[in-house]
This record gives sequence, C-alpha cells and structure tokens, in this order.
Amino acid sequence: MTKSLFIKTYGCQMNVYDSARMADVLAPLGYRAVETPEDADMVILNTCHIREKAAEKVFSELGRLKTLQKRKARAGGRMILAVAGCVAQAEGAEITARAPHVDIVLGPQTYHRLPQMVAAATRAAGHVLDTEFPAEAKFDFLPEAAAPQGVSAFLTIQEGCDKFCTFCVVPYTRGAEFSRPAAQVIAEARRLVTAGAREITLLGQNVNAYHGEAPEGGIWGLGRLLRALAEIPGLLRLRYTTSHPRDVDDELLAAHRDLPTLMPFLHLPVQSGSDRVLAAMNRGHTAADYLRTLERLRAARPEIAFSSDFIVGHPGESEADFAATLALVREAQYAQAFSFKYSPRPGTPAASEDGQVPEPVKTERLRRLQELLEAQQRAFNLSQVGKTLPVLLEKPGRHPGQLAGRSPYLQPVHVTAPARLIGALVPLLIRGAEPNSLAGEHLESAA
Ligand code: 5AD
Ligand code: SF4
Repeated sequence: MTKSLFIKTYGCQMNVYDSARMADVLAPLGYRAVETPEDADMVILNTCHIREKAAEKVFSELGRLKTLQKRKARAGGRMILAVAGCVAQAEGAEITARAPHVDIVLGPQTYHRLPQMVAAATRAAGHVLDTEFPAEAKFDFLPEAAAPQGVSAFLTIQEGCDKFCTFCVVPYTRGAEFSRPAAQVIAEARRLVTAGAREITLLGQNVNAYHGEAPEGGIWGLGRLLRALAEIPGLLRLRYTTSHPRDVDDELLAAHRDLPTLMPFLHLPVQSGSDRVLAAMNRGHTAADYLRTLERLRAARPEIAFSSDFIVGHPGESEADFAATLALVREAQYAQAFSFKYSPRPGTPAASEDGQVPEPVKTERLRRLQELLEAQQRAFNLSQVGKTLPVLLEKPGRHPGQLAGRSPYLQPVHVTAPARLIGALVPLLIRGAEPNSLAGEHLESAA
C-alpha cells in the first residue's frame, strides 16, 4: 500500500540533500513524495536553526499542520508529524513541550533510523526522540540507490564543524567534523551521473576541511578528491560549498587551476571586514588574509567570481568596524552575497557577550551593506551581456518553450530552446541581465 509523504525543507543545501535521503529511507515502507501536506500520511519538517527567524518559522508551521492532522484524524486517518534537522537537534525537548502533536523528533545524524521511529510512532502514542550524534553511522546505513536528483545534484561529503565561530550553532547541531571516505563519495557520484546528473555540488558545513580516507590508504583533501571526481565520464560540472577561508590550501588552488569542470565560482564567507570583529568571532584569519586568498584564487583561475556571507551587528561591532566591512566588499568585488543581521543563538558564546548591537543599528547597517552588494551583483550580471557563456540547461522555464539553466557563475539563465536540450551544456549568447538572472539566446534555434 502506498502512503504519501510531504517533506518541507528549510535552510541550507545540506538540508535539501538530507530531505532527499529521508525520502529514500522511507521508500521501502511504501512512502511516496507528494507536493502538498493536506492529506499526507506523514509530514516531515526538515529544519534550520542558524538564525532565530528560521527556528520560529518551524513553530508557526507546526501550528498550521495541527489543523490538517486533526482533520485527517476525524476522517479516520493518521498523519505522522516529524521534525528533523537542526532545530530538532537543538530544541528537541522544547518542540515536544510546545507542540505535543509532533510524533517524531530526529536530529540530522539519525535519519537512517526513520523506519524504526515510524514503526514506534505507529505502535504507540507519545513521542519518539532520537537526536544522537555520530555522523559515521548514518552514511553506512543509507540505501545506495538514491532517487535521481535531476541534472544538478547534491552530494554530502563532509559534515559538522570544529571551528566554533562564536555566533554559530553548527558545531552544536551538526557535531564534530566528519569526512566520508573518498571511495564512498566517488561511488555515489558515479550513481548520480548514471541517474542523469551532469553537475554535482559537494556539500559540507566546512567542505574544504574535507580529509577523507583515500581509496588506497592515507588521507585525501578536497583538491585531491575533486581531481578524482573530474575523471568521471559524463560529469560536466563540479562545485563545492560551503568553504572556510582558512582551509584553502595549495592542492585546492591547483584544482582550480587545472580542472575545467570545477566551476569558476566560489562561495567563500568572510562574515566581517574588521580584524577586531573577525577575532571576536574566532574566525582565525584577518581581512588581509582573506583578500590574499581571493588574489591567489584569481591567479589560479583568472575568470573566477566570488560570493560571501556577512553578519552585521555582531556583539561589539562599532561603526568603524562596519566601515571596514564595506571597504572589504569594495576591494573584493562580489558577484553575489548573502547578508544577515546578527541573531543571538542560545548556547553560543556571542549570545551572552556584552555589547549587543541595538536592532535599529543592525537594520540600518544591513541596508547599507545590501545596497553595496546589490550594486556589485547588478554590475557583475551586466558584465556578462554580450558574452557567450556555457549554460547547463536543467529544466523547463517559467514560460512555454523556455528552458532554465545556470551559468558557470550560478546565475539563473532563461532561454527559448527545445526541451531535448535539458541536461546539455550549451553555449548561449547573453542578451540581457536582470538583478537575479540572465536572458540567453540559443544561436542554433535562432538560425
Ligand atoms: N546570526 C546571523 N547570521 C548567522 N549566520 C550563522 N550564524 C548566524 C547568527 N547567529 C550566517 C553566517 C553563515 C550563514 C550560513 O549564516 O553568515 O555563513
Ligand atoms: Fe559555523 Fe564558523 Fe563552523 Fe561555519 S566555520 S559552520 S560559521 S562555526
């Protein structure tokens, strides 16, 4: 008997990957993914705890789901409700207290045990709580035959973080750094390509801290792993995210220099341009170190473009510190970036520091930073107009006859082109630039 499963994913790409794997794990029990929660037999919220807003969204969604759950019960059915991911890891007890209609709470490292949890929840009333830590076990127990992810696929190679930036919950929700063995990663990449993937994005909270067991003994870093993955026939593009500036080593620089399939676009978060704030954040590098790393990457791959994350209003951030962030942005020249107001996360060192920055000051700084970053993004997008870029066509576009794909720089590109080109890497003439996307022209369809 098939049952319906609705998964709602919050937060980062690793959660997107985890959601796909949870669907894989539940498939043998007869669960098939559906697009809406209305009549689902099981609903999983795969949550994010990185900022307060992200966590609060989960509680409002749980409120809405309660109505659906009751309706299904009145009709004689049952909707199993599970909360997974980082909010579950950090606030498991609070979830069951605030939302007693939740059946299962599971952390990011235990979803290979979902079938047992579902069985237990089905048998008994009351909650199943499973938020143990070690990442090693999970990867060994996940089914090998992953459902196809499409043209562009994610592959988690590393989890957790040992860096303990003072603002961040990741070391507490995802645990210590763990790297999957290289052979396991290569085998999964091959399966993804066989299932139709042409691009793979390697994922990890600290992906360039990767140090996995090598196929013939010893340890491989990310640069070496990329080299091996670049040899897989049919794999046209490689990306990786998210990186730490401290872990860009010579081998990784060499991979950017030597591997055409490694895309010339790197998300390298700096968080702040002030050395004082960087030290307070425990980032382990200065603004000058970071800019030097960008320079070395540009020397290795001249066309490379960068993206970053920024936090404004970290405790103790003065107007002069913030000005240093603006100065770094002017120097670095980003193609794209994400920026956030500092959000105190319970249990992290920065949350209890003196010198919390008032909300209106954060709002004002964020506005000024985003103005600058948006101007850089517009300028970068405009600089592509008139060029011919290789675009990986991924799916039908919004309008009939259109396809949507990505440039090497991860910019969404839409183009009028035949559907048979989905999965192909096609040179497109860039005709126009919007703030968040490009318009391409397929020269063969024009001819
Ligand atoms: N407040 C605001 N932003 C945060 N980030 C991580 N923790 C916090 C926090 N407490 C941002 C960082 C990180 C991105 C994923 O989220 O910029 O790189
Ligand atoms: Fe969080 Fe810092 Fe680790 Fe990134 S490097 S996950 S910001 S602690």
